[in-house]
Amino acid sequence: MIHHSPPAVIRRANTDDVEELYLLETICFRERRFKREHILWILHNPHAATFIDRDEKTGGTLMLLAEGNVCRVLSLAVHPAVRMQGIGKALMAVAEEWAIENKASLMRLEVSTSNVGAIDFYKKLGYENAGLLAHYYSWGEDAYSMKRELAQRAKS
Ligand SMILES: CC(C)(COP(=O)(O)OP(=O)(O)OC[C@H]1O[C@@H](n2cnc3c(N)ncnc32)[C@H](O)[C@@H]1OP(=O)(O)O)[C@@H](O)C(=O)NCCC(=O)NCCS
Repeated sequence: MIHHSPPAVIRRANTDDVEELYLLETICFRERRFKREHILWILHNPHAATFIDRDEKTGGTLMLLAEGNVCRVLSLAVHPAVRMQGIGKALMAVAEEWAIENKASLMRLEVSTSNVGAIDFYKKLGYENAGLLAHYYSWGEDAYSMKRELAQRAKS
């Protein structure tokens, strides 16, 4: 497999991006995808942030929620046509930067136990398994809770 890392064009998403965000959710997730109203709730939530990797077409999307010192990854999706090119990694770097700016010291996310690829992806980025969440999804599937401690920036 050829690996190349195009410079990701990552920006904050806004309500004009709802259709693009929804489209990627439907392409990347069969069951656990967000509905348009969920996406709008996230876009309007002052404790949440949504990022989009976009050149001509949307390559990836990321939704985050700050809960005290925890930053939760609500959704990460990279278009199948552009996977394994570093977009997911670049989005997660933006996630951790945003988390640190928002005083979070811990990243947390949930991933289906059957999503082996995503689990490997997160492990490569330094995430560790923080426990099994039995029947986490409404259709009965289990999830792993994964976490990563963030190094706080030195106070200036
Ligand atoms: C998981 C996902 C976000 C990865 O995005 P991506 O842009 O393909 O990942 P990257 O190219 O940035 O990969 C970063 C590293 O993870 C590895 N990786 C990515 N996907 C992988 C997979 N399916 N299996 C094994 N390793 C994988 C890459 O090889 C790379 O490793 P390297 O740094 O040693 O080269 C993407 O596959 C996706 O959107 N999947 C469907 C939605 C999903 O499952 N989201 C997460 C649910 S919580």
